[in-house]
Amino acid sequence: MSDKQHGFFSHQTLEKNIGWMIIASVLVVSFAGLAQIIPLFFQHSTTQAAPGIEPLDALRLMGRDVYIREGCVGCHSQQVRMLRAEVQRYGPYSEAAESVYDHPFLWGSKRTGPDLARVGERYSDAWQRTHLRDPRAVVPESNMPAYPWLQHAALDDSDVQARMRALRRLGVPYTDRQIAAAPGELAGKTEEDALVAYLQGLGVAMRRAPAAAAGAPHTPAGAGAGG
Ligand code: HEC
Repeated sequence: MSDKQHGFFSHQTLEKNIGWMIIASVLVVSFAGLAQIIPLFFQHSTTQAAPGIEPLDALRLMGRDVYIREGCVGCHSQQVRMLRAEVQRYGPYSEAAESVYDHPFLWGSKRTGPDLARVGERYSDAWQRTHLRDPRAVVPESNMPAYPWLQHAALDDSDVQARMRALRRLGVPYTDRQIAAAPGELAGKTEEDALVAYLQGLGVAMRRAPAAAAGAPHTPAGAGAGG
């Protein structure tokens, strides 16, 4: 084999030349990556909202921005993984079709605190407010920071319409009427009101969806297990 002539397009070219080896490896890995990633842009299960998933209303949208600003995503994921222990603890595992209206998504990867993808309506509004103002008041061993100023911070409604229009450009189906009504919905609200509304909506649509869309082919196994 070794004294046989070999052309440029042979294995020996790759095996004896680290430069070509690297280039060929990068090509193979990139192709494999693209073969996995590109179909996700066209599959309905990743591009179309799951049944029951609606764009956030104005108050929840602003609450989501408070959530981003305060760095909650640094300690909390919003992504229940497909593991038995997770599904038993948090509820049905997360699906891509739940976050098609999330720009940017807040799946997170760090869990100093529990996952929040299914936390909506698990506690009362009053519990959420107490917990945000002083986590130790309801969970003595908690190391979550307190956010007492949110209850006094008036919600800034000056740019909510611009935010909704920007999201609409990204494919979130806000209607003109919803955008026109947005500032009115925020009147007199605090940042805490918005954040609690946002938290109380997390995962709720998915929990209700199986009832709303009974028999719909989309509903995957596990989505009906309740929260
Ligand atoms: C330094 C990490 C940290 C940050 C930042 C943080 N949390 Fe937490 N969070 C925790 C921990 C730890 C717990 C579990 C103990 C408890 O309930 O307080 C928790 C619990 C929670 C719970 C209850 C979840 C459940 O299922 O019982 C909610 C809701 C929550 N956090 C919301 C928030 C929000 C909203 C923010 C941002 C304003 C935030 N957290 C920021 C660490 C954090």
